[in-house]
Amino acid sequence: MVKVEIKSSNDVGLSSLDIVSKFAERGLNIHPKAVRMLERLESLNVESLDSLIDKISMTSRGAVVTPESLQDLIRNKPKMDVYNSFDSYGYDLDSKKDVKIKVEKDITGNSSCEGGIEDFVCHFNSRFDKLANILRRRVKSIPIASLSKIKPKEAEIIGIVCGVRETSSGNYLIELEDKTGRINVIATGKLREIASELLGEEVLAVSGILKGKNLIANRIIFPDLPQNGKRPNKDFAIVFTSDIHFGSNAFLEESWNLFIKWLNGEVGNEYMRELAEKVKCIFIAGDVVDGVGIYPGQDKELRIIDIYGQYEEAAEHMDGIPKKIKIILSPGNHDAVRQAEPQPALPKEFASLFPKNVIHVGNPAWVDVDGIKVLVYHGRSFDDIILKIPRLDYSNPVEAIVEILKRRHLVPIYGGRSPLAPEKEDLLVIDEIPDVIHTGHVHTYGAKFYKGVLAINSSAWQSQTEFQRKVNLNPMPGNVPVYGPNGKLHRLRFYKGS
Ligand SMILES: [Fe+2]
Repeated sequence: MVKVEIKSSNDVGLSSLDIVSKFAERGLNIHPKAVRMLERLESLNVESLDSLIDKISMTSRGAVVTPESLQDLIRNKPKMDVYNSFDSYGYDLDSKKDVKIKVEKDITGNSSCEGGIEDFVCHFNSRFDKLANILRRRVKSIPIASLSKIKPKEAEIIGIVCGVRETSSGNYLIELEDKTGRINVIATGKLREIASELLGEEVLAVSGILKGKNLIANRIIFPDLPQNGKRPNKDFAIVFTSDIHFGSNAFLEESWNLFIKWLNGEVGNEYMRELAEKVKCIFIAGDVVDGVGIYPGQDKELRIIDIYGQYEEAAEHMDGIPKKIKIILSPGNHDAVRQAEPQPALPKEFASLFPKNVIHVGNPAWVDVDGIKVLVYHGRSFDDIILKIPRLDYSNPVEAIVEILKRRHLVPIYGGRSPLAPEKEDLLVIDEIPDVIHTGHVHTYGAKFYKGVLAINSSAWQSQTEFQRKVNLNPMPGNVPVYGPNGKLHRLRFYKGS
């Protein structure tokens, strides 16, 4: 076990525990070597540590504070770019006796953005181009700027939503922009409901009648999915889970252990044991650990305050899963990677703690499991989507998944609670059609087929925390969806109360 040493400190009186706690209070994870480096600083006192943490808070963006980054700051050279500090890991994914697993798309090792204005321009152009391509299969659009020149009676256009507001007459005005110009679209009648649920940055097509400078909408068309009845027919099973929160004092260890026993064929009826035998891979959609400093007062709800200790415990538990099963581990907002999405895979210092059958991927990631295309995404954007669309709520998370599928974008709101890394290619666009989209984050269970795509939200392994009680979130822990042979969906329960 690599633990941050707790010992009495330098002459000034700051122990390693003081240092770790100070960083944790500010939501930062610090490498044990960096702790030892600070301990050795003769000039370190509470004030200088606070000022150092201020500088780090401005530059670290949720990554781990390493001795190297600390050195830069101590020399007063803040390192601004943490986007390129991750590599891909080169797994042996084609072992003959296992199913073939291929990580098809993932930001890990491919990040290039620095967060400047040019990056944002490239990013939103990429979003527009990808989604406009999908929409052009369904509409014959003309550029917005040409409307004022040609003055057609009727027209179809494609644009990105820049603003939506209700007018004094009860209609909705949607500002739509493409690369050539901007126009006001008026939504009346039944279209008002669609307009009232627009989230902010969707790319849409509108068919309408030109009236003066405005386009009066007849139809508002989302990129959406085509209807698809085909289901992959395989003889193996895939397990979906998320939000384990190792390190939290609300982690449901008994239920988790029961789940591991089931995977080992030690519990369950004959049918369940047969199903366990067929499991070839497990997806984890983020929040593997509880992290530190994620929300105010979190330290009081932690059993393990040190992020390394949390990942060590996670790795030990993963070791209990049979090695023939591949574990595809994608991070979430509680994990020790940058918070801006897309998130890369866990850094090597944590990833290397896990057994070899764990494949670390980014968030989101597209993974092909022997012909089954899985899109795994933690689901942080659900907070904004559920807040914006009143008919949605946390108890029915698949309806939020349907909204992202309709928009073909994982984070259709910019500027909400999901921070964006403006990568040149927008990897948050759902530009292909997955067989399964797997999310977590909201700690409730839900699964349904939407236009042939299995949408899954995979609950959690943490009971209600004080923070969740305050925000009225009622988790449904210990529910495990399993995509079994012949495309059948199973729901297993490992927690008595849910
Ligand atoms: Fe979570």
